[in-house]
Amino acid sequence: MKDNESNFSEHEKEEYVLYDKEYKEFWSRIDNSVVMKEYDITSGSPNCRVCICQYNRLEEARFWTRIFQEHALFIKLGLPADQKKAREEAQSLIDIFSDLRKRLDKADKLEGDLLNNLIKAVKSIIMFKAELLRQIIQCKEAPGSNYPLLLDHIRREAERFLGLLLKPVPKDPLELLLVQEVFWLRIMKEHIEFVIHLLDPSERELIEQAEEFRKTFSRLLETARDLESMDDTMPKHFNTVIRFTEDVVRNTIQLRDFKAAAFELATLCKLLSIVSTPLLLDHIRREADKFLSELEVLLPEVIRCNSNFKKIK
Ligand SMILES: [Fe+2]
Ligand SMILES: [Fe+2]
Repeated sequence: MKDNESNFSEHEKEEYVLYDKEYKEFWSRIDNSVVMKEYDITSGSPNCRVCICQYNRLEEARFWTRIFQEHALFIKLGLPADQKKAREEAQSLIDIFSDLRKRLDKADKLEGDLLNNLIKAVKSIIMFKAELLRQIIQCKEAPGSNYPLLLDHIRREAERFLGLLLKPVPKDPLELLLVQEVFWLRIMKEHIEFVIHLLDPSERELIEQAEEFRKTFSRLLETARDLESMDDTMPKHFNTVIRFTEDVVRNTIQLRDFKAAAFELATLCKLLSIVSTPLLLDHIRREADKFLSELEVLLPEVIRCNSNFKKIK
């Protein structure tokens, strides 16, 4: 049989190697983190039930305020010209989040007025998104180019961040990992669905690639929901979740690269679509990177606390 490599063109080979390198680097960081934590443990049984507080709330706030400012922009660009009031409200939210971003950049703690103003702004944008969605569902307003599912999607993203600001993070790393995977895999699947519906029908090759991603992420989401349900029985270790997460990481890196490539094509005016601004493609790429970074925080904890092996590779 011929060597598989001969089936790759030079360009494809290079891409494959790059992707593989990134995947290996991801897991080697996870392995190192598990090993480092093991050194920290003085007693025989690691304390795995304490809150995972690696979430830096200030960093989270910086990430999400940019995201929400962009949501308000995407909504505004998608609203019909005659919905003046809604367009003004969208603009005012753009201004509010732009101001919060400047304050967050200068802050070294998320507390006091800054925290209160942030919570108030996030609640406002949630209400705004919900109101627009309700109007469309009830056929009271024309949707413009804001898909109802897009409004619901960005409303859920804001709800999740608000939850993070208001409630402590759940204690068990495995439970937390599965909750995050179910949340983000749904988000990733929907990003692909939006891309499919925003690409020009003549972009057949890209649509076909996106369709493959859609199938993969629908499958991953369904599995994540099954595993989350099984975890209700509180198994002592659940190695399958780690094996599953390897699959999630591999596919999310590929999807992230697909989004980055689409952004580049749109920026270079080499893409036919009805995407209102290339920023949307960069936005969904950043969210894929955020998902990967959250997995990187949680996985070492899960390997340490909820599996009976210390190294995956
Ligand atoms: Fe978003
Ligand atoms: Fe999103």
